[in-house]
Amino acid sequence: MKETEARSRIAQLSAELHGHNHHYYVLSQPTISDREFDALLEELQRLEAEFPQLLSPDSPSQRVGGTVTKDFPTVVHRYPMLSLGNSYSLDEMREFDARIQRALGRSVEYVCELKYDGVAIGIRYADGSLTQAVTRGDGTQGDEVTANIRTIGSLPLRLRGEGFPSDFEVRGEVLLPRKEFDRINAEREEIGEQLYANPRNTASGTLKLQDSAAVASRNLDCYLYAVMLEGELTGTHLGDLTKLREWGFKISEASQLCRSLDDVFNFITHWDKERAKLPFDTDGVVIKVNSLADQKALGFTAKSPRWAIAYKFTTEQAVTRLNSITYQVGRTGAITPVANLDPVKLGGTTVKRASLHNADQIERLGLCIGDMVQVEKGGEIIPKIVGVERTQGLFALDPVQYIAHCPECGTELVRKEGEAQHYCPNELGCPPQIKGRIEHFIGRKAMNIDGLGPETIEQLYNAGLVNSMADLYTLTKEQVLPLERMAEKSADNLLAGLEASRKVPFPRVLFGLGIRYVGETVAKKLARQFKDIDALMAATSEELEDVEEIGGRIAQSVVAYFADQRNRDTIERLRNAGLQFQMEERTSIGSEVLGGKAFVVSGKFAHYTRDGIKEAVEQHGGRIVSSISAKTDYVLAGTDMGPEKRKKAEKLGVSIISEEDFRGMVGIN
Ligand code: IVH
Repeated sequence: MKETEARSRIAQLSAELHGHNHHYYVLSQPTISDREFDALLEELQRLEAEFPQLLSPDSPSQRVGGTVTKDFPTVVHRYPMLSLGNSYSLDEMREFDARIQRALGRSVEYVCELKYDGVAIGIRYADGSLTQAVTRGDGTQGDEVTANIRTIGSLPLRLRGEGFPSDFEVRGEVLLPRKEFDRINAEREEIGEQLYANPRNTASGTLKLQDSAAVASRNLDCYLYAVMLEGELTGTHLGDLTKLREWGFKISEASQLCRSLDDVFNFITHWDKERAKLPFDTDGVVIKVNSLADQKALGFTAKSPRWAIAYKFTTEQAVTRLNSITYQVGRTGAITPVANLDPVKLGGTTVKRASLHNADQIERLGLCIGDMVQVEKGGEIIPKIVGVERTQGLFALDPVQYIAHCPECGTELVRKEGEAQHYCPNELGCPPQIKGRIEHFIGRKAMNIDGLGPETIEQLYNAGLVNSMADLYTLTKEQVLPLERMAEKSADNLLAGLEASRKVPFPRVLFGLGIRYVGETVAKKLARQFKDIDALMAATSEELEDVEEIGGRIAQSVVAYFADQRNRDTIERLRNAGLQFQMEERTSIGSEVLGGKAFVVSGKFAHYTRDGIKEAVEQHGGRIVSSISAKTDYVLAGTDMGPEKRKKAEKLGVSIISEEDFRGMVGIN
């Protein structure tokens, strides 16, 4: 294809993909299937790899991430990012309205909006393209997080329609939808990572991740609530929001014009009730004067505008008695204390239990059995204990003594330096850990065994038939038939499911082993790098850390896992049962010409995406390592390779080769 042809095809694909994105993320009305979308995106990525000079920063391909930012530069805000005055009662709202009427000598119209509980962001558009995104910081200056913000599907990288100013800024809130928050935490739980506390903190942490591909995988969302520019757009706040919506921004449908204070109160009452149904957290309502001329006349105090105020919802609380604490043991041995309460009505449901996170929280609250405790239901489904109401001196209560031994197996608990959670170290003898590990092993993302679920595992374990994942493969029909609710057909299903699982590819088997911190992605990386279980078992911590994105903590966990003879025995039994412990051979174009040499890949390439060229290295027997060291054989340098890397390679005497050199080495002309 000639460059001119490519240019017009890229423009066409970009416009189409921007349109599909808008329908999917902003309007929630997908116009094509995911597959069709991916096909268009792939075509675009291919063309951009072939003609790197045509790659534009607002291309739809930039949403998938891949940029690594080491330090986020500090940027001074053009317009300071102020905060809002807070109010907690309708009386305070009346005072706000009275102040405005006094200042202007008449009543005004308001716009009510949801107060999004996320992270404030200012985003600049130049000639219709997203050029810069900066966090609030201290209000005067913040961190530039543009590459991460570009991954947000609901934000236009290029504006739709026309009539937008050539240079302006929009302000809004980056949110992590609750569903995504739950998904991320479920994944973290699966690999034994500490859970995130709430969607807001997670969104904030996500914006500071160095790898924008990791940000893309979190599926952040962004609602806009203001436009900042010299001069005027429509003269009213609601008019401006409507313009922003036309240009492709996500503006909440909830925003509403209120002609009287009563309208405002109705809005507040409505959303206080309905907010539980929203896909994201809101902590209140923002009331703004609609006319921008009025806003200007009212002006600002030192900290906040006089023309707007936040009304904060009160989180419903109830007071009830703490009867006891139960300690649950998870798959990884982590202990979670749960409070058992006198049943109490809260937010439309009866609450009997509340989560307590860890020993520190119990200590901080100074909890005693018999205490009257305040429970609160936040965005999370499980209520939490936020305080204690104690009648001083009435009777002496004993503070809760955190357990020292596992409630399931009696083993003494341990607490690692710097970790909040207690653990039961009896990995191979503690029933919930054994069952949990088998459940993880048979799970959908691991062995995906049809006809086998947690209840059957429970029965198999209780009947003494299964004590480890390897035991599953010795089960016979005669053994499983006597189990409760196990008919002829379900027994056949179970055994067929186990048989089929023998073909599950190595990366998923590796994930299924349940090594701490080894999630799906890490398992794939390790499998691709080491090719088979023997090489992986023999790997040192250092060799593991050489793999991209594998840090010290994961490496140590892998080494510790394989150092345990009992784990090695399980693997040996699984291997004898016929499970896949090596990568399938690629027969198509593979060769071994690169003979295990270590490559660092850096910059952009004409014929490949970054992942594509790494794959090509591996297909020809090379290894990818993440950073340049004396052990690196080649630095495969594309365009835009940083000067620091070049210097380091030269200092260590590592050969720097070009894309063309590489293609020559593996015989592509
Ligand atoms: S308007 C001059 N509207 O609340 C301040 N802010 O306390 C203009 N927020 O940092 C802010 N939802 O991040 C506005 N609909 C909304 C909002 C909103 C959430 C946040 C914002 C700001 C904080 C102010």
